[in-house]
Amino acid sequence: MNAVINLKNVVLETDRLILREWQETDLNDFFEYASVDGVGQMAGWQPHKNIEESTFVLDMFIREGKTFAVVLKENNKAIGSVGIEKLSTEIDGYENMSGRELGYVLNKDYWGQGLMPEAVKAVINYCFKTVDCDYLLCSCSPQNRQSARVMEKRGFRFVLEKTRKLTDGTTRAARYHILDNPNR
Ligand SMILES: CC(C)(COP(=O)(O)OP(=O)(O)OC[C@H]1O[C@@H](n2cnc3c(N)ncnc32)[C@H](O)[C@@H]1OP(=O)(O)O)[C@@H](O)C(=O)NCCC(=O)NCCS
Repeated sequence: MNAVINLKNVVLETDRLILREWQETDLNDFFEYASVDGVGQMAGWQPHKNIEESTFVLDMFIREGKTFAVVLKENNKAIGSVGIEKLSTEIDGYENMSGRELGYVLNKDYWGQGLMPEAVKAVINYCFKTVDCDYLLCSCSPQNRQSARVMEKRGFRFVLEKTRKLTDGTTRAARYHILDNPNR
């Protein structure tokens, strides 16, 4: 079952990053990375074609209150997102436990600096210590080694491969990884 998430006024801090709710003033930063070819496709959505498309998704982020903006401290720029999404699959043995599914994207200019593992670590702590999550899931396509590396670095273990429906309506194979709350 899904843990209850409400990121209103929640702010997480790491060495290099602030994670906070999305704001309307983040629009240009969001469009900058969401419109780049080869970024969104890896997470199951097409690059944004215009600023209106980014406005629509940004409004949804703000309304739904389950997606962090990842802000780089050194330039105060929103360079990515971490969503604490509803579960897209059941895992045998976890039916009565409370969980969520993480999804993340980073501006291509900032890849390879360990920024997303740093952000995900803070979100895991939040989910396990502040929110009542017994476990977290995360999934990526079999080809997406970059995303799988983030999961491995954060201690997730492979649990299931199955076909998944994406936000753009297509389906593809997804490799699910799981992390148990060590305090349970
Ligand atoms: C997945 C993603 C968030 C990783 O963020 P990150 O902060 O770059 O993560 P890391 O720095 O730990 O790098 C992870 C792996 O990416 C690969 N990588 C690093 N720099 C790279 C670059 N410039 N180009 C391509 N791959 C690169 C490396 O394999 C690295 O693993 P390693 O540290 O063992 O060498 C980022 O690649 C991204 O936004 N990808 C597109 C969206 C996506 O796939 N989201 C997940 C959907 S399931």
